[in-house]
Amino acid sequence: MSLTYSDYLHLDRVLSSQHEQSSPPEHDELLFIIIHQAYELWFKQELHEAALLAKRLDAGDTFGAIGTMRRMLVILKTLVQQTDILETMTPVGFSRFRDRLDTASGFQSYQFREFEFVCGHKDPRRLAMFRDMPEVLARLERRIAEPTLWDHFARCVAARGHAVPAEVLERDVTQPVVECEAMQDLLYDVYRRDKEVVLLVERMVDLDEGFQEFRYRHVKMVERTIGDKPGTGGSSGVEYLRRTLFTPFFPDLWRFRSRL
Ligand code: HEM
Repeated sequence: MSLTYSDYLHLDRVLSSQHEQSSPPEHDELLFIIIHQAYELWFKQELHEAALLAKRLDAGDTFGAIGTMRRMLVILKTLVQQTDILETMTPVGFSRFRDRLDTASGFQSYQFREFEFVCGHKDPRRLAMFRDMPEVLARLERRIAEPTLWDHFARCVAARGHAVPAEVLERDVTQPVVECEAMQDLLYDVYRRDKEVVLLVERMVDLDEGFQEFRYRHVKMVERTIGDKPGTGGSSGVEYLRRTLFTPFFPDLWRFRSRL
């Protein structure tokens, strides 16, 4: 028998994976589930693209890397836009089933943490909540141990013959990316000499900004839906989320621009 659309996409599994906790099911809960599932699928794709991006940067394939970053950005923009859909749910609509979420929260999205680690926000404290999920823990530990996109970018710039500071090239990749003034000096110089690096830098900044946009839209969505109630994941809610805003993955790429 020839392969069918349903078989290829495993639609039986995909379409039977939405299980409302409310009983009888509250109308808006299906939307809440589907939107989170859609986000997780896109996070999966972003991680897949990030792996290719790392390879392309390592191979010095600047234009390939730029193409991949463009795709990653378009996906991020789509993720940001999807908040519009969930914002059609009123606070009352959400409160009808919120209690049934128990402690479940996007806080526990391990793919989101992976994406943060891949980009440069390494934070081993994030692992604690996954201690009862050995496979997830192993995934996150692997991510902590591997170089970030910032490291791949720095190596790519160095391979083009630019004197990337040793403190950047030899940094401990298990640690968060921090600002480096010598790197900013180099970027200031290279930015006016190497057009391919300029393109790379601008797409990296697009990605960084795109991710921050997601955080901002998420906080506003949360604020209009639950006000200042604490989160189901155990944080203070909006107050915690506000603290995650405006923290770039690639601080040097933002910092050096004031000199241009
Ligand atoms: C009405 C909708 C939503 C509400 C009220 C909400 C609420 C919250 C709250 C209060 C937190 C803080 C952690 C905690 O639970 O204590 C949080 C974190 C988070 N949420 Fe949402 N959320 C919503 C929709 C979404 C959607 C659609 C996604 C997509 C995956 C998402 C992903 C996340 C992520 C990744 C975090 C962790 C952020 C971080 O630690 O930086 N949330 N959410």
